[in-house]
Amino acid sequence: MIIGIIGSGGREHAICAKLLESKKVDKVYCFPGNAGTNLIATNIEIKVDEFEKIKEFVINNKIDFLVVGPEKPLVDGIVNYFQKNNIKVFGPEKVASQLEGSKIFTKKLCKKYNIPTAKFGIFEKIKEANLFLKNSKFPIVVKADSLAAGKGVYICEDIKESIKAVEEIFNGKFGIAKNVLIEEFLSGEEMSYFIISDGKNYKKFQTAQDHKRVLEGDKGKNTGGMGAYSPSRLINEDLDKKIIKKIIEPTINGLKEMNTKFIGFLYAGLMIVDNEPYLIEYNVRMGDPECQTILPKLKTNLADIFFACCEGKLNSINIEWHDEKSLCIVLCSKGYPEKYKNNLPLNNLNKINLKNNEFIFHAGTKSIKNEIYSNGGRVLNFVVLSNSFKNSRDKTIQLIKKLNWYNGYYRGDIGYKVINS
Ligand code: AMP
Ligand code: GLY
Repeated sequence: MIIGIIGSGGREHAICAKLLESKKVDKVYCFPGNAGTNLIATNIEIKVDEFEKIKEFVINNKIDFLVVGPEKPLVDGIVNYFQKNNIKVFGPEKVASQLEGSKIFTKKLCKKYNIPTAKFGIFEKIKEANLFLKNSKFPIVVKADSLAAGKGVYICEDIKESIKAVEEIFNGKFGIAKNVLIEEFLSGEEMSYFIISDGKNYKKFQTAQDHKRVLEGDKGKNTGGMGAYSPSRLINEDLDKKIIKKIIEPTINGLKEMNTKFIGFLYAGLMIVDNEPYLIEYNVRMGDPECQTILPKLKTNLADIFFACCEGKLNSINIEWHDEKSLCIVLCSKGYPEKYKNNLPLNNLNKINLKNNEFIFHAGTKSIKNEIYSNGGRVLNFVVLSNSFKNSRDKTIQLIKKLNWYNGYYRGDIGYKVINS
């Protein structure tokens, strides 16, 4: 098989590495990839939004199917574009991608199918929103409708903050805003829950716990994710059943009624309150860094799984997992998620010898003449699988210390809730 991967983050490097474990995979191309994918596959200098250029490359190089990593091209309709050109793609269509592209689309779906979620209101005018806020309890959550790379969410402690958030959203901070979403603040513990689907059938694809804040103890600014562990400490049989029955199945049925096909990963961002699941958001892709944490646990051939999804034959596959506890720590550039430097050399990287069950997935890296440099806020993902989360974290930190990157910052407390409990 010849496979193309669209994207350039840690998630895409992890997918690339897993696909290449299969003898059935002859070649992988990454559009555009990073220094990590460059070591094991072939990077192609085409950006993720250059659909036409990707199409030409796919045809000329006989690529069997494409895997789309990030949300932006999915929301922009990359899957419909390739389907029209008879190219197989692992990813959801444009309408289904609205689950991530529009928070209001998802909220309306929740209302129609009675899916548990935070109580909410949608407002088209600043005045109406402010009037509502004056009669609300705090904290409260104010959200921009559109894709905002995780930045369009304000957790507001008082009326002043919330009015400012509404104003910023309507002033176009996250693109033209026709409306604003205001929702009840849910107090609980978050969990990332994944399924994989071929458009007809779906299978569970593990759980994880991300750590979105930049500082230890879940303090400081929100980031793309500073580390994760899998499985989540919260999952149990009873909760799993509730998630499937109350959230996943009504969503899949709702999409079917809309006549749209969901092929790909569906990622439910949940808040668990007293063993009850509430949907906070949907993403129409794998999580990052959850993907880097989960994929090393996969026993079944990933290329077979993706291919079966593209063919509508996921039911013919039994997805199996290793039992080990997986933990991922993200090494960032100092200053992330605000200002940080790029183009700094990652000198010791090739001196690290990874043992079985140890992985380094690149994110913001690039290679220049066989040397590897930083090229983003989140730079490398260190992942270790072992018999306990504590052991996995200790070993992960040892690897980061071996690299000893002068511009690196990481959270040493990833998994603290599961390790200290
Ligand atoms: P989102 O982009 O919708 O996932 O929101 C980003 C983060 O904001 C989530 O991961 C939660 O930590 C937090 N959040 C969003 N909505 C709520 C809510 N209704 N209650 C509490 N926290 C929330
Ligand atoms: N880990 C958060 C995300 O992928 O959106």
